Parts: sequence; structure tokens; C-alpha cells
Amino acid sequence: MLPLLDLRNVSKRYRDMVVIPELTVAVETGDFVGVIGPNGAGKTTLFGLISGNLNCDGGQILFDGQDITHLSADARCRIGIGRTFQIPQPFEGMTVFENALVAATFGAGLRGRSAELRAHEALSRCGLDRFGDVPAGRLALLQRKRLELSRALATEPRLLLLDEVAGGLTDAEVGELVELVSEIHRTGVTVLWIEHLVHALVSAADRMLVLAEGRLLGDGGPKTVLNSREVRDVYLGSDLDEGLLRSIVGSVKVPSDAVRLDGKSVGGRSETDQLHDGIALVPEGRRLFPSLSVEENLLLASRNGRVGPWTIARLFDQVPTLANLKSRPSTSLSGGQQQLVAIGRALLANPRYLLCDEVSLGLSPVAVDTVYELLSSVTSEGTAVVLVEQNVRRALAGSARYYCMQKGHVVLKGQSSSADYARVSTAYFGV
Ligand SMILES: Nc1ncnc2c1ncn2[C@@H]1O[C@H](COP(=O)(O)OP(=O)(O)OP(=O)(O)O)[C@@H](O)[C@H]1O
Ligand SMILES: [Mg+2]
Repeated sequence: MLPLLDLRNVSKRYRDMVVIPELTVAVETGDFVGVIGPNGAGKTTLFGLISGNLNCDGGQILFDGQDITHLSADARCRIGIGRTFQIPQPFEGMTVFENALVAATFGAGLRGRSAELRAHEALSRCGLDRFGDVPAGRLALLQRKRLELSRALATEPRLLLLDEVAGGLTDAEVGELVELVSEIHRTGVTVLWIEHLVHALVSAADRMLVLAEGRLLGDGGPKTVLNSREVRDVYLGSDLDEGLLRSIVGSVKVPSDAVRLDGKSVGGRSETDQLHDGIALVPEGRRLFPSLSVEENLLLASRNGRVGPWTIARLFDQVPTLANLKSRPSTSLSGGQQQLVAIGRALLANPRYLLCDEVSLGLSPVAVDTVYELLSSVTSEGTAVVLVEQNVRRALAGSARYYCMQKGHVVLKGQSSSADYARVSTAYFGV
């Protein structure tokens, strides 16, 4: 039988940087393939080549026996290749429903009532039925990810490419998402899914591809692949398996005495004032200046911050990945690379209080280790770190105290070292 997707000696470079030297891999109809690999390995690039958002420099791509190497992204979508984007890009001014309708109309080629029905169905499958009339620009990150998935579904794909749709979700939500994608797979859709939450993929995928520097480091059953020494060293590291922060930092207005710092009421002040008092935030969703290079983004932060132990030179020394990327425009970075820049930027403000919202979002397990090491050196220098983290185990291991919140209330708190994981999970998930 012909494979559904057949990549033969495919290569890709950005200017003089070779990202994918030569990749040959085939995917059979009905496969459920997990794709993992370090930040910057070329995973999103690979999806770009398959979906036609990027052109190959060499090689050939076949879909269902047809050579699609030179086909436009639109044409590939119409023959059944649907994708989500790692950094969601909805039409911000349109409503959620209109976004799905565009996908059904132009992606699946449906018209009138059948396009509307398709859009409704895709939204309802992703739990967005109540949001149909909301402008997409007003959605929070997690809902944007759901919208990405519904837009891809509305195009009626035979091959569905998912790029980090689970990052930032709670364990329970990840479980629901895995169930949803598995259900879509059972209806006959072939799935390729990039995700750093390896445990999510293991439970659903029957094959795992590991990409490192654009090459296949592993390909096979998930358990076999993850047990490989090389994959552990390069990718897994030691990890086998918003409201609150914003009100402190100043972007959500609260009464002045709602936040106190050194006995002084500081709530409701501007972000700049908070920064001068030493409060810095690693925001969820990164928000780098797109027109600036990595180094310029960092320079801005260090000029506007306080004087202290963190300088650009030290940051580059401790995180060599950032030094290697310094002249790159921030828009050309992979998702995980952008997250590292956002963390570096917060450190360069030399904060007394560092607030991190979903600090490990989009990072490979090995990069998460690096970031937690960085945070522990920051705390040993006297900076207090407040971490909002969906990964309960990581959060407890890396902290001294914890607060477990539900709907704006603290439902459980205590010393992290004596925390009972089961109790925290119960309080957290409310079951
Ligand atoms: N438009 C671009 N111009 C120049 N370089 C780019 C561009 N897009 C990506 N790159 C580089 O190509 C490499 C692969 O990037 P890609 O986004 O495919 O990585 P990834 O495996 O998806 O990583 P992550 O897990 O962090 O999302 C990275 O080094 C990245 O900086
Ligand atoms: Mg990526």
C-alpha cells in the first residue's frame, strides 16, 4: 500500500543555516505519530514543509501518491492536509465562528449551510460552541489553541498536523485533549502531533519520531524510542515522564492596598513602577518585540531594569543557546527559543521578585531542567521567585512553599517538601 505521506530526501535551510539536511520518512494512512525533539530541532519547520507554508530546498513530498512538492499551501489544504500553528494566528477581528467558517469554506471547499454546519461542528467538538460570537482577538491563550484545532478540523483533513496544542493546559485538560484527538484519529484521520508533553503523546501515539538538528534520532514504538540512551541525553533530561501574577505586576488594576511590598501599598500601579521596585514577570505567551533581534530585546530589558548581578554577558555565559541566537530576529525563533528569551529578559531586569507564568511552556524537558537550574541560582542570590505552573510535580520539587488556587481562591497551601501530591492533585482538579 502507498504511504499517505512520503518525504524523500527533503531538505530546508534558512539563508546559510541548514535546518533539515536530508530527511526521508513515510507515514501510513491511519498512523498516529508523535513528534518530539529539542527546541530548534526543526519540528515546526517540518510541518511547514508538509503543509506548504514553507518550500523545500531539495527533495520530494508525496501525498496519497501525488507529488505535492510544488503545490501551494491552499491547494494542499484542499486535498486534505490540515494544520495548527504553534503560535496561534487567528483572524483577530473576526469572531470565533467566522474563523471556523473561513476554514470550512476555503479549506474544505464547502458553501452556504454546509460550511456553517461544518464550522459549528468543529467548534463544538473543541468545546468552543459558547464562544462563537466572541472576537478571536479576545480569546485567552488556551482558547486560541482550541480555536486552532477547530479551524484545522473545519478544513476536513485526512492528515492532521498538530503543533503543540497541549502546552499550558492542566493535566485534566491534557487528558481531555488526548481523548479528543484520539477520537478524531478513530474517525480515520492520520495524525502527526508535535508536543513536548511526552506523556500525552505516549498515551495516544503508536509511533514516535525524534528529530534532532533536522535528522531522525529515533523512529518506532513510543516506549522503545523513549528508552533509547541517545534520546534521553539529547531530549528528555531528568523528566521522564494568570490573573494573580498580573495583578501583582500591574497589568490588571487592583486596589492599592491589595498588593503590599515592604509594607508599602503598591497595588494598581503601572508595570513600569512595579519594575523599578524590582517586580519582573515572565508572561505567558512571551510577547517579544517582533521587529527587534534577540540581543536588542535583551538590551531593552537590561536598560530599563535595575542594576544587579545579571548582565547580558552573564546570561549568554549561563545559557549558551541564547548567545548563539543573539543576532536573530525574534520572529525567526522557534517557540521554545522565544520562551528562553522571555526568561532571559526578566532576569536582566535584576528583579527582587520574579514572577513566572507557565515558565516551561513550549520547552523541551532538557530545556526545562536548564530553566529550573537557572531559577534556583536566582533564588540563591536573594531573588524571590513566584512560579505559576501546571506541572504539579515540577512546581513542588522546585519550590519551598506552594499555594493551590481554584477560581481565584486559595484552597490548599503549605511547605512543598511535605506536600502530599495526591491531596494537592485532588484540590487542584477539584475531584
Ligand atoms: N523564518 C526563519 N528564519 C530563520 N531561522 C528560522 C526561521 N524559522 C525557524 N528558524 C530556525 O530554524 C530552527 C528550527 O526551528 P523550528 O521552529 O522548526 O524548531 P522546533 O523544532 O519547532 O523547536 P521548538 O520545540 O522550540 O518549537 C531553529 O534554529 C530556528 O531558530
Ligand atoms: Mg516548534
